[in-house]
Amino acid sequence: MSEHAEIILEGKSYKFPVVTGTENEKAIDIAALRSESGYITLDSGYKNTGATKSAITFLDGEQGILHYRGYPIEQLAEKSNFVEVAYLLIYGALPTAQELEDFSGKIKMHTLVNEDMRKILDGFPSTAHPMGILSAMISSLTAFYPESLNPNQSKEEVDLSIIRLMAKISTIAAWSYKNSVGHPVNYPKNKLDYCSNFLHMMFAFPTEDYEINPVVVDAINKLLILHADHEQNCSTSTVRLVGSANASLYSSVSAGISALWGPLHGGANQAVIEMLEQIKADGGDSKKFIAKAKDKDDPFRLMGFGHRVYKNFDPRARIIKKAADEVLTALGINDPILTIAMELEEAALNDPYFVERKLYPNVDFYSGIIYRALGIPTDMFTVMFALGRLPGWIAQWKEMREQKEPIGRPRQIYTGETERNYVDIEKR
Ligand code: CMC
Repeated sequence: MSEHAEIILEGKSYKFPVVTGTENEKAIDIAALRSESGYITLDSGYKNTGATKSAITFLDGEQGILHYRGYPIEQLAEKSNFVEVAYLLIYGALPTAQELEDFSGKIKMHTLVNEDMRKILDGFPSTAHPMGILSAMISSLTAFYPESLNPNQSKEEVDLSIIRLMAKISTIAAWSYKNSVGHPVNYPKNKLDYCSNFLHMMFAFPTEDYEINPVVVDAINKLLILHADHEQNCSTSTVRLVGSANASLYSSVSAGISALWGPLHGGANQAVIEMLEQIKADGGDSKKFIAKAKDKDDPFRLMGFGHRVYKNFDPRARIIKKAADEVLTALGINDPILTIAMELEEAALNDPYFVERKLYPNVDFYSGIIYRALGIPTDMFTVMFALGRLPGWIAQWKEMREQKEPIGRPRQIYTGETERNYVDIEKR
C-alpha cells in the first residue's frame, strides 16, 4: 500500500487506502474500518463524508469552482442552453447537433401529461404549495408508467423514463402554479423550445396569448443551467439514497423535490425574497437585520448567505448577479427590494462576523430577484430550482444505478437507555 492513512485504536494500528480523484481531491477509504476494528466514523450532517465516487460534477468550495462533466459553469451559462446541459449531465458528453435535435425532439413529444393527472391536480386545494403538488405529481407518474417500477429496466426503457420526466415536469410545474391561483391550465405547445414552452404554460391565458420575450427566455435558460447539478447536496443525496433501494426514477426524484423544498436548501430563494420584504416593511434598515443574524439568541439567519461547501463567492452567484442586472435593465424594472439586497450584501461582506465565517451570498440570494422580475410568483421559486436540478438528479440516479451501488444505510452511535425491563402500566 503506497499512500495510506493509519489509525491507531486501543494500541493497534489499522491501515486504509487513500483514494485520489481526477482533480486531486483525496479521501480515506474506511470501508473496512468496522469489520477490522469494530469502530465506525461519526460525522453528523455528513460534512466530511464522501458517499460515492462520481464523474458528473466537480466543485471546489474553497476556490469557488464548479464544473459539469469538466466544463466550467461560466462557459456553459454563457454558450449553452438548458436542454443541451441536461444531455451533457445525463449522458456525459456534449451532444452533436443530431443528438441534440433527437433529444429535444423526444422531450417535445412527451410534454403532454395523462388527462387523469389533471383530476389529481384538481384534488389539491388552492392553498397547496406548488412544491408539495410537484412532489406528489411526480410520484404519481409511477401509477401511469408502472413499468418504471421494474429495477431491471433495459437502457432504452430507462431512457424513456428520463425523457418523460424531463418533458412532463415543466407541464406539471406550470399546472401546479395555475392550480394555486385557480386559473385553467395551458397545454404545452410543442413548436416552442423548452423554456419558452414553460413560460407559455405559466403565463398564457385563454383570453390572451403570451408574448415570449427572448430576454426572459435567456434568463430562464441561464438560471436552469446554473441549478442543474451540485454534486452530493441534500436533495441529490436523497435521490441517490432512495434510488439505492431500487426505487423508481420518479419516486426517487419525488423524494428529492421534498428535500429541496426545505428553506435551508432550495427553499432559500423564496425565503430570501420574504426576508427582503420583511426588511422593507420594517423600514428598510439592513444593519438591524445584520445584527439580528449575528445574535446567537435570535434564530434569524441571513437567508441567501453561507453555503455548506462554498467558503468563497459561489460562482453561480457571480453569474446570476450579472444576469439580474441585465434582466432588470432590459425589462426596465426598478425594484426597491433590490436596493435593500445590495445594501445587505455590502454590509455583510464588510462585517467581521460574515468575513470570518466565510459567509458569502449564495445562488439563492440573487435568483429570487430575477424570478420576481420575470413575474414568477414567490412560492414558485423553489419549483424553478427543481426544474433546473432535474437533469442533475437524473444523472446522479443513473450513475448510482450503473455503478451498481449498494443500498445506502448509515450507522449510528446509540445514546439511549441501556437494556431495562418492561414496567406494567399500573406501576409507572
Ligand atoms: N446567517 C447568519 N449566520 C450564519 C449563516 C447565515 N445565513 N449561515 C451560517 N451562519 C453561521 C452559523 O451560525 C455558524 O456560526 P458559529 O460558528 O458562530 O456557530 C457558522 O456560520 C457556520 O454555520 P453552519 O450552520 O455550521 O454552516 P452549515 O454549512 O451547516 O450551513 C447553510 C450552511 C447554507 C445551511 C447556512 O449557511 C444557512 O443556513 N444559510 C441560509 C440558508 C441559505 O441561504 N441556504 C441556501 C444554500 S444555497 C442553495 C443550495 O445549494 O441549497
